[in-house]
Amino acid sequence: MVLNLPSLSHLERYRNEGTRTYSPHAGYTEAQRKYRPDGGLPSFSLPCFAMPRERMHVYSANPPGELARIYTGADDVRFCIHPQVLDERADDPYVVQTLKIGAKSDPLQVEPGASTRTLHVLNGPPDHAVKVHFPFRISRYGRKMREEVIEQAINVSRELEAGIEKMDGRFAFLREVIGVAHANLHPESPRGENWGYLVRDMRPFPHVVEKRTLVPGFSLYGKDFYDPGKSILLFDLIGSANPLEFVLESILLPIIRHWVGCFLHFGYLIEPHGQNVLLEIDENGVIKRVVHRDLSVGIDMRRRRDLGLSDAGLNAYNRMEAGHFLSITYDKFMGGHFFDRIVDACLKRYPHLTADDFRAPCRTEFQHIFPDNPAYFPRTVQYFSEERDAFGKPFFIDTGKMPAWR
Ligand SMILES: Nc1ncnc2c1ncn2[C@@H]1O[C@H](COP(=O)(O)OP(=O)(O)OP(=O)(O)O)[C@@H](O)[C@H]1O
Ligand SMILES: [Mg+2]
Repeated sequence: MVLNLPSLSHLERYRNEGTRTYSPHAGYTEAQRKYRPDGGLPSFSLPCFAMPRERMHVYSANPPGELARIYTGADDVRFCIHPQVLDERADDPYVVQTLKIGAKSDPLQVEPGASTRTLHVLNGPPDHAVKVHFPFRISRYGRKMREEVIEQAINVSRELEAGIEKMDGRFAFLREVIGVAHANLHPESPRGENWGYLVRDMRPFPHVVEKRTLVPGFSLYGKDFYDPGKSILLFDLIGSANPLEFVLESILLPIIRHWVGCFLHFGYLIEPHGQNVLLEIDENGVIKRVVHRDLSVGIDMRRRRDLGLSDAGLNAYNRMEAGHFLSITYDKFMGGHFFDRIVDACLKRYPHLTADDFRAPCRTEFQHIFPDNPAYFPRTVQYFSEERDAFGKPFFIDTGKMPAWR
């Protein structure tokens, strides 16, 4: 079957209608309209500054030479700031510091992806994006890029790349290859608020030569921005295949295996919701791999100790010592926010199917590949409370519900 799939950039921006309903906060954004992925400017200029390298903190995980050259010089490093930050946060200490010690350099031309703050850089090749500090609320959170978050994403990228043979052949991910952050100007504060940005290699790793298209998870069931009546992409991909078999074998089961593989081999809690998952599709319309993005994962230190894995390459960010967040990522982000939407779409179109036709084989697979799961998981589904800690992070609560996907 030959499919005429729209580009990733089009899908990111214009096949996401009606999907942000998974929580009461999901549709909320403080991004100025012109910078939003849907309905904003076709592209915009990202302000950049040349900063003295010895004043900045630079992290890297095997960046391709071309990207290292664009972002890090021997004496200077590039610093990117979202224009809305320059506009609305001119007195932020790190904006002030940038203007004080840096010199304005050529901007990059960028296009926002679905997360708003990850910006596809049009000046490539190589194909890459920058994930920038955006301290405005989108959905539940303000989207800061603090140094410890940047450093940890680079640590995770490096470790996952080095251990990639532990994952199956349908797993791929987008590497975070360079991070640049300001030094902390207020070391006495309880948490470093110094920030910067990440450079993401957009070529799925392990690299393949063949031309393939990336399709974000949400665009399987998202409506078209321009033509809401258009049939959804999931049905185009299913074509004349058996819908249950297709959805299980090419989407749900591989993602469950990836969640479990990342947990068992690394202690990582990946968050495979509709925005963090991309399907990689070949020219015949066949889903070859699932590509995971966003390496700001929780890290289960209990699992790492059980594996005898060193924590020397990790900083303190997002370390977990209990199972609540396992349930949030598996039961809610993946199961509730993503899989249930795919299933809902299928049930409408194929009324002979039931939700349990999809869920039961997933539960069986999960128990089969992760029999020891009760040692790590809470029995019931956990989620975010509406109450937050001093840094604005929501607490976890026990919903008391029994999980549907494990
Ligand atoms: N259909 C969708 N499902 C989930 N999140 C979505 C969807 N569409 C847009 N988003 C946005 O994507 C972001 C998801 O948050 P998440 O922390 O995974 O991404 P991020 O860290 O901002 O960016 P990236 O995934 O590029 O690393 C939120 O800002 C959310 O509003
Ligand atoms: Mg994301």
